[in-house]
Amino acid sequence: MRQKSTVAFGATWLAAIAALAAAPGAAQAAQAADAAHGKQVFATCAACHSDKPDAIGPSLRGVFGRKSGSLDDFRYSNAMMRANLTWNEDNLRAYLKDPQAKVPGNRMPFGGLRDEKDIDDVIAYLKTYR
Ligand code: HEC
Repeated sequence: MRQKSTVAFGATWLAAIAALAAAPGAAQAAQAADAAHGKQVFATCAACHSDKPDAIGPSLRGVFGRKSGSLDDFRYSNAMMRANLTWNEDNLRAYLKDPQAKVPGNRMPFGGLRDEKDIDDVIAYLKTYR
């Protein structure tokens, strides 16, 4: 009895997914920034931005819309303290592409992301990471 209802539930799910895939606009949605993929990209960042007290980098929870260098419990470089940015799409894109070009002298030991799609997607994920 129990198993039967699980199967029925599974079939409903499949039907729902099939309907979604067939929906007009699905192709466009696939082109748009993809926060789920961004979460995978974020695994690279999480090596340093881990939210732990001994993390190498500052917590990125709520970083979208936050002022740069503004967490009290992280010792930023002077460069980051002086950057005077409010993290948004544009400056995050520039910083993640080439951290040293955007904030010269900052000490994030990361060369940047090369793939534009990875950058868009990780920003989409950061918007949801609170
Ligand atoms: C090897 C460690 C490391 C990696 C990997 C890394 N970061 Fe960082 N990140 C840092 C450090 C350290 C800082 C602080 C820089 C400073 O104070 O100059 C920083 C700062 C930042 C800031 C500014 C935060 C603030 O509070 O103003 C953002 C945004 C950021 N990183 C995003 C990312 C993203 C997104 C990724 C992955 C694509 C990433 N970082 C990968 C170490 C890292």
